[in-house]
Formats: sequence, C-alpha cells, structure tokens
Amino acid sequence: MTLSPATGPLLYEGKAKRVYATDRDDVVAVEYKDDATAFNALKKARLLGKGAMNCRISALLFEHLEGLGVPTHYLGLHGDHWMMVRPVKVVPVEVVVRNLAAGSLCSQMPIAAGTPLAPPLIDLYYKDDALGDPLLSEARLERLGVVTTDQLQAIRTLALRVNEGLRGLFGQVGLQLVDFKIELGFTAAAELVLADEISPDTCRLWDLGVSDAQERILDKDRFRQDLGGVVEAYGEVLKRVQGVCPEPRVYR
Ligand code: TMP
Repeated sequence: MTLSPATGPLLYEGKAKRVYATDRDDVVAVEYKDDATAFNALKKARLLGKGAMNCRISALLFEHLEGLGVPTHYLGLHGDHWMMVRPVKVVPVEVVVRNLAAGSLCSQMPIAAGTPLAPPLIDLYYKDDALGDPLLSEARLERLGVVTTDQLQAIRTLALRVNEGLRGLFGQVGLQLVDFKIELGFTAAAELVLADEISPDTCRLWDLGVSDAQERILDKDRFRQDLGGVVEAYGEVLKRVQGVCPEPRVYR
C-alpha cells in the first residue's frame, strides 16, 4: 500500500473522490475511492478496485488529451489510487457531450437509444447535488451568472476537442464513446482546464464487437441497471486503453 501523498487537510469530499492539500500551494492530491453511487447517491455500493482502475484510466486519458493539446489539471500518478493535480476553481457546470442517444436523453425526449447525434449534442447541468444537478437552459445559465458568454464558448470548444480526442482513442480499441460528462476549472493563472476525472464512471462505453444491448455495456450503467460485472467491465476498458497508451507518469 502506497503512503498517502496528502500532507495537508481534506479540502473536499465527493461521491467518488477526496481532495487533499499538499505542502505545495500549486498541487493537490486526489484519492479515488471504491465507492460507487448512482441516481444522486440513492444507490450506493463499494466496488473493490474501482478507485484504482478509474485513477489509472483517467491518467491515461488525461495524458492522451494533453498530447493533443487539451489543457488538464493532471500532473501525475502517486501509487495506485492517487493522482496529483493542479488546484482549480471548478466551474459549477457539468458538461455532457452525447454522440449517441442514451440515458436521460432517451427518458426525456422521444429518441431511441443508440440514435446517432451528429453534430454531438452538448447538455449543461448545474452542479448542485442538493438540487439534483438540473439541466440548464441558456437563459438559466445566463441568470446564474457563473460563466461569461466567452467562457461558455471556450467550454463548448474544449468539450468538443475532448470528444474528438476520446472518440479517436476509444475507437482504436473497439469502444464506442456514447456520451460522457466532464468538469472544467480555472487555474490560479485563470487558464481553463479539464478537471475531475474521465472514467467508466463518467462515460458511456459500448463494446463495438458485441451487439447485445446489455452485454456491450462497459461502464457505470452496469451498476445503475444492476447488470453485474461492473469491476470486470472497468477492467476491460483499462486493459484496452492501456494497450495503446504509454505507461502513465508518476508524479515526483
Ligand atoms: P445521463 O444520460 O444520465 O444524463 O448521463 C450522461 C453522461 O454523463 C453519462 O456518460 C454518465 C455521465 N454522468 C456523470 O458522470 N455523472 C452524473 O451525475 C450523471 C447524471 C451522468
């Protein structure tokens, strides 16, 4: 077991991660937990090994995106379930990019699961657990005043670049990127960067080699829908992504 790199207090605890201060102002330590939640934490479980897998998958994806010029908060790994990142002021807007219809889109609109969406659909949600992360309209977002028009444009552009980068990588390993959620933040230098995580907790990934609508699912929908094999599915995603990416860097 690796020693904790957290040398300061707990700054924030979310459903799947904890963020700690370190002895440097410009570095925080993120611990990936084995906790899984769905439906705004109405459903909970501990999935042994999930934290380490999501940590490693996120590292590989952040490094891949970084190589494509996408700025991220990621600095490097520490042990198997810790990631060192730059501290950011998180924009309280969850950005969902959808390439195929699935999930809430299908329960809120008359559209069949798997319908291609081109260009991709971007949905914005207000990041507030107490309110249940509601879907935002442009007018509500403007009323909230949490981002300027220019920042919103930059967020949309970054989200589409992330989509292209991830789609390319997942496509290479036989995975269809159905949709995903990202969070963005501003660094101390006011640079907009990709933050949080990118993992099967935050993406829908379908195995392109499997036609069965349930068997092809390799993401958190296995947990949401009680399909079983959650950790195995995450392990498959890790194995495939790892197969085409360099070893993620260790933070020193
Ligand atoms: P949705 O279809 O439920 O709106 O989800 C869209 C995508 O966002 C899907 O890949 C799962 C991801 N997501 C999260 O990462 N966190 C969340 O809290 C929710 C609701 C969705």
